[in-house]
Amino acid sequence: MWDKLRAYHKTVADRRFADMVDAERAAAFATQAGDMRFDYAKTNIDDTARDLLIDLLDQADVAGKRDAMFAGAAINETEGRAVLHTALRNLDGGPVLVDGQDVMPAVLETLARMGKFASDVRDGRYTGQGGQITDVINIGIGGSDLGPAMAVKALAPYHDGPRCHFVSNVDPADIGATLRQCDPTTTLVIVASKTFTTIETMTNARTALAWMREKVTDPGAQFAALSTADDKTAAFGIASDRVFGFEDWVGGRYSMWGPIGLSLMMAVGADAFHAFLRGGQAMDLHFKSAAWVENMPAMLALVGIWHNQICGYSTRAVLPYDNLLSRLPAYLQQLEMESNGKGVSMDGADLAVDSGPVVWGEPGTNGQHAFYQLIHQGTRVIPCEFLVAARGHEDDLHHQHQLLVANCLAQSEALMRGRSLPEATAKVADRFSGDELERQARHRVFAGNRPSTTLAYPQLTPFVLGQIIALYEHRVFVEGAVLGINSYDQWGVELGKELATDLQPVIEGRADATSKDGSTAALVSFLQKAGV
Ligand code: F6P
Repeated sequence: MWDKLRAYHKTVADRRFADMVDAERAAAFATQAGDMRFDYAKTNIDDTARDLLIDLLDQADVAGKRDAMFAGAAINETEGRAVLHTALRNLDGGPVLVDGQDVMPAVLETLARMGKFASDVRDGRYTGQGGQITDVINIGIGGSDLGPAMAVKALAPYHDGPRCHFVSNVDPADIGATLRQCDPTTTLVIVASKTFTTIETMTNARTALAWMREKVTDPGAQFAALSTADDKTAAFGIASDRVFGFEDWVGGRYSMWGPIGLSLMMAVGADAFHAFLRGGQAMDLHFKSAAWVENMPAMLALVGIWHNQICGYSTRAVLPYDNLLSRLPAYLQQLEMESNGKGVSMDGADLAVDSGPVVWGEPGTNGQHAFYQLIHQGTRVIPCEFLVAARGHEDDLHHQHQLLVANCLAQSEALMRGRSLPEATAKVADRFSGDELERQARHRVFAGNRPSTTLAYPQLTPFVLGQIIALYEHRVFVEGAVLGINSYDQWGVELGKELATDLQPVIEGRADATSKDGSTAALVSFLQKAGV
């Protein structure tokens, strides 16, 4: 199937797809899920390409794998685990069995405990030594940080709880700056770590504990923990009524729907958090039931596969024309690159095709004044994924929102249409002539024919945010299933962690660098002379 797709791509690679985009194509090359619309008409995918791409889904038995995931099978084969973040948003769904046990009662009980604790904090029934909690610091990294940090920012218009801060980096600059903004007597520290062993998180948690101890008689009482490791949270000194547990079938980068989302719940309240879960659940239902050609996560994944594995475009820009989603690209970097950045297939063989793409991006319109130059005129093609809301939350400034939307649509139009040499020449013909006219015009030519997709939605509500995040999660699932990789482990992060543990005594001067390569030893020596 890959060969067929590549062969077909060769036959259409040079055509100008811009010429194909009429109203009929716009209707046929778009999908709808709830009130969100995903448009991929501005790509070179036609009926034949789409049929061949959909054949990939059948060849990889994506439907069977999808059903196995929702049913609690251990599809994370290298760790022998189920993949059931969907159970965390299965609010009124039926039982979900793992090893014959229904996990839903425990999921719903934890959700209810989170709701009670969040409302106690928000309403002042749970206080710090100095009174009502004014600040919540979430200490976590990777999936224990990026999801809630992204979502708290995304749902800022709904934020009516305590201020939320996110500390992730072991760089003391991160925690130092955060602690200086908070009063320890009115601060709640949430230590978010699935394993409760991650060195950055545990180091920051101990720093926060020491900071609180200076002013608070019982600092442990102002700590909560989100983890799968009860023994370790107890050893840290956090009472079990402030420990919110989850199971190993929730992957770190898929965990914001459960306890790892506690800071989000503190910010926006339990009702809005539930609406977020319901949005995710709605996308689950769509993913499970829609035919492939109507299936938004499947089509989003196939467009990505077409661009990366077939066309050879190795990066993907995520460009939210929604400032509230400014952390979405960072969140997606982990979700997509930690999940599908693998060169080994499930059976241990080398991957026969390229792994997932490099994901990057910034909110529009900021990116327009920074890196869009390269997207429009650079030598590499970068597929762009635009996101845009019909309405923002600043009702008095709706005209500004309209300008934002115009910019978003203009960019995808410009990428597709480009500007030809005669058009560019006409633009400057009044200023130049002869050879100079051609030279000046050539700098103003846009090749065009550059693909993009647009995800449009009415407004970034908690429900819509849930739909968007679940959409991207399922896209990653489909892509991983087609590529034949395990999207749910992350062995590629281990080697660096081990070497950092080895290097720490060297940096501290307790061991010498003789076992290290020349470059590393020289850098250690330089940094030591400079005061490390
Ligand atoms: O090192 C990578 C990773 O394991 C991520 O997958 C995870 O989200 C992050 O570290 C944090 O892990 P934990 O929640 O266990 O602290």
